[in-house]
Amino acid sequence: MASADNRGVVYRGAGKVAVEDIAFPELALGNRKCEHGVILKVLTTNICGSDQHMVRGRTTAPEGLVLGHEITGEVIECGRDVEFVKQGDVVSVPFNVACGRCRNCRRGDTHICLNVNPARPGGAYGYVDMGGWVGGQAEYVMVPYADFQLLVFPDREQAMEKILDLTMLTDIFPTGFHGCLTAGVQPGSTVYIAGAGPVGLAAAASARLLGAACVIVGDMKPQRLEQARSFGCEPLDLRQDASMPELIESILGVPEVDAAVDAVGFEANCHGHNHAHEQPATVLNAAMEITQAGGRVGIPGLYVTEDPGASSEDAKHGNLSMKFGLGWAKAMSFHTGQTPAMRYQRQLMQAVLHGRVEIGKAVNATPISLEQAPKGYADFDSGVAKKFVIDPHGILNT
Ligand SMILES: NC(=O)c1ccc[n+]([C@@H]2O[C@H](COP(=O)([O-])OP(=O)(O)OC[C@H]3O[C@@H](n4cnc5c(N)ncnc54)[C@H](O)[C@@H]3O)[C@@H](O)[C@H]2O)c1
Ligand SMILES: [Zn+2]
Ligand SMILES: [Zn+2]
Repeated sequence: MASADNRGVVYRGAGKVAVEDIAFPELALGNRKCEHGVILKVLTTNICGSDQHMVRGRTTAPEGLVLGHEITGEVIECGRDVEFVKQGDVVSVPFNVACGRCRNCRRGDTHICLNVNPARPGGAYGYVDMGGWVGGQAEYVMVPYADFQLLVFPDREQAMEKILDLTMLTDIFPTGFHGCLTAGVQPGSTVYIAGAGPVGLAAAASARLLGAACVIVGDMKPQRLEQARSFGCEPLDLRQDASMPELIESILGVPEVDAAVDAVGFEANCHGHNHAHEQPATVLNAAMEITQAGGRVGIPGLYVTEDPGASSEDAKHGNLSMKFGLGWAKAMSFHTGQTPAMRYQRQLMQAVLHGRVEIGKAVNATPISLEQAPKGYADFDSGVAKKFVIDPHGILNT
């Protein structure tokens, strides 16, 4: 097909994304045929806070990168060696690219696959330093290792009915869930979640699904805090000038929680009257202050090795001023890294299909057309309480 048969969202330098004609995907890896891959017609593809780090110019993402790692689609073509996924299947794509064959994939650590990124372990679609895979904020995209990677929805009609929930299985729902599990959230836990963006809200919904007794969600953005309150969380407005233990005490009566999740990452703001200023280690330090001794901190929030927009020379190279001694003294554990999304997709799909969780509602899933993507990026950046779901083929009447 001619190149104009596909359109996608392209990064055009700090603050700029554009919807452009891009090449129709081919079943190819370099100059080899990709017989284990499929071509998808993209049904939904979400904008993520991870994309925003690139679009704000806070990474070394190259201009011309086709964005998009949160992809749900319909299989329109299968490579010769795809045995079990079929044309017409509606599938969720875990955002990690993973071969299914290396030692890490074999133990379920698909976020650090050894074969999909020459630069470092772990690959993703449309993401800086993640292997150069073409992103899926587009009409069509190629997915390799299809039999291993894809989650096929059991029923097309049911999938389309719940698409605004199921679209969160590609990344943020598994990521929020993983953040809570690695923080040790259990029935009856008290939990602090830093960040009320889509990942924080997905973590909050996950904590509730896991049976947490009280889920406190901290942010400086009132609309996002209101969103957290809408499904039973305790909002914590971090524009207040008080210490983190005092703020937690004002809600729980004690200055600590059982478990904490960082759903903010390196572009974190200070709390209190200084909240317009960045302090990349502030969430990590807050988590160490307020989590019980022996507790764990789940850190899905992203930290980078290079941040050209950082305010200090150290932070430009990912060196942050952490109170590591405090964490050590309290015998705490930290869990970092990309989420192995595949690990959680099936169970979380079942939770959605059986009505145990309304993840689309929790994060306020908001469909937009592909042409509206640049505005979606700008609105998301302004801090609205919405998770934008791009609908490239108009199936949601955007
Ligand atoms: N580990 C993974 O696999 C994975 C997957 C998806 C997203 N992420 C990362 O998760 C993070 C959150 O993603 P998102 O889409 O929700 O992003 P987002 O930018 O929409 O949300 C971040 C929120 O944190 C708030 N915030 C800033 N400083 C804070 C502080 N000190 N305390 C509490 N809140 C603070 C912001 O106001 C904002 O609402 C990003 O860093 C993203 O890259 C990681
Ligand atoms: Zn994402
Ligand atoms: Zn692998």
